[in-house]
Amino acid sequence: MPNITFTHPDYKDKTVYAVAGSHTETILKIAKESKLPIQFDCQDGECGTCLVKVTHLDKNTPKGGPLTAKEQTVLQQLGKLTSDDIERMSVDDIPSQWRLACQMIVRDEDLLVEYGVS
Ligand code: FES
Repeated sequence: MPNITFTHPDYKDKTVYAVAGSHTETILKIAKESKLPIQFDCQDGECGTCLVKVTHLDKNTPKGGPLTAKEQTVLQQLGKLTSDDIERMSVDDIPSQWRLACQMIVRDEDLLVEYGVS
């Protein structure tokens, strides 16, 4: 089971154990279940409110990709991804650090999730 550590500049860090392998277990869902004050609105990858910065803590290759077209579009609109970044992600098969918590499905890997970032 992966450890997901949530960190925010104004709150104490919280580490939770997540159940990986489900197609519905998003970072946002885990944060809400853990009663973390994460911001969200649409919950459908369209508004960008749930922006988080994700660091993969395992030594293995990150598994948290790929980004959906919707997620890529919003992250570009927020200035967090460029076309070059998207091209590099598709070639190297490595996801962006910037993610939408409502879109990122948790895989079997330890993560540090920074929320309340912009
Ligand atoms: Fe709107 Fe995640 S809550 S993009």
